[in-house]
Amino acid sequence: MGASILGEPLPFEEKIIIKGWPKNSTLEDYKKLHRESLEKFEEFWASVARELEWLREFSKVYERGDYPHVYRWFPGGLTNISYLALDRHVKGARKNKVAYIWEGEPVDEKGAPREVRKLTYYDLWREVNRVAYILSRMFNLKKGDKIAIYLPMIPELPIFMLAAARLGVIFTVVFAGFTAENLATRINDLGATLLVTADGFYRRGKIVRLKDVADKAVEMSPGVRNVIVVRRLGIDVNMVEGRDYWLEELMEGVPSNAYVDPVPVESEHTLYVLYTSGTTGKPKGIIHDHGGYAVLLHATMKWVFDIRDDDVYYCTADIGWVTGHSYIVFGPLIEGATIVMYEGAPDYPGPDRWWSIVERYGVTVLYTTPTAVRMLMRFGDMWVKKHDRSTLRLIHSVGEPINPSAWRWLYEVVGESRCPVGSTWWMTETGGILISIAPGLALIPIKPGANGLPLPGIEAEVVDDEGKPVEPGMKGFLVITRPWPGMPAPPTGMWGDPERYEKVYWSRIPGFFYTGDYAIKDSDGYIWVLGRADEVLKVAGHRIGTYELESVLVSHPAVSEAAVVGAPDPVKGEVPVAYVVLKEGQTPTSEMAEQLKKWVREKYGPIATPQNVFFVSKLPKTRSGKIMRRLLVAILSNKPLGDVTTLEDEAAVDEAKKAYEELSRELKK
Ligand code: WT7
Repeated sequence: MGASILGEPLPFEEKIIIKGWPKNSTLEDYKKLHRESLEKFEEFWASVARELEWLREFSKVYERGDYPHVYRWFPGGLTNISYLALDRHVKGARKNKVAYIWEGEPVDEKGAPREVRKLTYYDLWREVNRVAYILSRMFNLKKGDKIAIYLPMIPELPIFMLAAARLGVIFTVVFAGFTAENLATRINDLGATLLVTADGFYRRGKIVRLKDVADKAVEMSPGVRNVIVVRRLGIDVNMVEGRDYWLEELMEGVPSNAYVDPVPVESEHTLYVLYTSGTTGKPKGIIHDHGGYAVLLHATMKWVFDIRDDDVYYCTADIGWVTGHSYIVFGPLIEGATIVMYEGAPDYPGPDRWWSIVERYGVTVLYTTPTAVRMLMRFGDMWVKKHDRSTLRLIHSVGEPINPSAWRWLYEVVGESRCPVGSTWWMTETGGILISIAPGLALIPIKPGANGLPLPGIEAEVVDDEGKPVEPGMKGFLVITRPWPGMPAPPTGMWGDPERYEKVYWSRIPGFFYTGDYAIKDSDGYIWVLGRADEVLKVAGHRIGTYELESVLVSHPAVSEAAVVGAPDPVKGEVPVAYVVLKEGQTPTSEMAEQLKKWVREKYGPIATPQNVFFVSKLPKTRSGKIMRRLLVAILSNKPLGDVTTLEDEAAVDEAKKAYEELSRELKK
């Protein structure tokens, strides 16, 4: 059937059994366990939820909220995720256990990190209380108020997230690589009144002046009254009197034993809003709650990561994305784990930085991404083998499909054929992992590149346009067929836009949650997610809407029309490529192409920079005026163009093709 990931055929029949893994199970046993979890769906999730402490016990497992597909999970329950992540441990034996081992990027002459900060659960709890004191007593923030956090990978990032959560204050974290425009859009959509940022941070040996970007964003955000600035670099930055405050100066007014009660919030109370790209120009603010989200994270930390008290857990993601929210901050803290957090680039000062981190702290569980693996693979095995990895016992990847050869490298080279290696499927909207192998529960044979079966209590299917399951081995749409804890939460699923939430996720295939992914279910029931079925790109695992980039491009004074598509890339999975129609009187030069690339980098962020800009005089469109991206994609990958009967102007395809051929010829020269 020709299904592949990055051109590599999928090994449907291959099965790898991890010798000596204590929780090995047969496929039949796992399926039985899974079936039973669905038969007693509510009892099942109630029993998982009871493993956590509740400030008031919930009265129901779940119920429909104010909109058709917005559910309250564990209604009646009172909780606070900051209490679950901190106070619970501080009361017990984990009080002085290390919560975070943080490593800054800069190194000394010998390549050793210049800065390492270790925070115990007690340290972290104290810092969170101090910051909660500042937010509540000095800035008067209360339950339901909104703040934005624009911080790099430094301990203050989780500290502010936990402090906001403690007060029931809703936060949004904006990735520190995003531009002022992106930051302002998110601040304004949420209605945040306070922004937390830093003077700057280190990235690949350079400094990034973050406060300058934050200042530009605040100019576009009339609702922001105050800015709290963390001093990371000690550089000079602009501070606006009466608006901006250094965190360290605010701290001087905080009693050293400051304690702020975690506010008991309803299970479904909003914890955070995280923005993610969709198929329109406007990012979607996905809402997650305290209770249901905590339950899913607790379950997946146990089942998928098999987390134990003596683990040293390292997730290489950035907290600016959902992976970091769930699996650097809330998930592992709820479990009382020791977490490694690293500020900088994976290849700084050399391509062995991550493996040196694994060796330095004796990392046991590693969570990483296919793009990073493909990038690091290219430098050769010796960079890995230089470092002791004998502590590693479990490895997972996330964010995009992992091609079988990248999987094998993780399994054989990094994990020395000793560790289970998984590809955990989930998305910003799901809050946590839904489809994965579960080494902590019942480890089924592993297939390189497959995601595995849905986790217990989760029901997923691969269906056709009408919602009917497709034959095993056939490509279809991945849908989630029952609500789950951690799903987009009340009041509206998507911040301020219940209609769009309903339309995007629940109306495409009625009755089911539409993920936007193509997948195959094989004859053993394993799910293989192949990639996006909608107009969203996955560039190095980052989700980027083609419409978003197109609107950035057409906002350039020289551009009349633009179409953005993904071109296959051996490392990043795919990269954006732009077809641009210039305005009358503009000349399509290579300088213009560079200018447009720079424009996207500045307006959207470096992750979205188009690899190529092709100039054309028109775009291929259907008779109703919709850009036929499918054709542009086919041209890029030299595939047959398929059905072109709905095409408005056949010449436009030829032209796009010609432009591509010309450029490839030019590049070859
Ligand atoms: C999309 C969600 C979930 C945290 C990071 C990404 C793709 C994610 C896998 C995987 C194949 C995957 C899907 C999904 N994806 N994990 N293991 N195998 N594809 O979160 O930015 O919301 O993106 O990432 O296409 O829909 P996100």
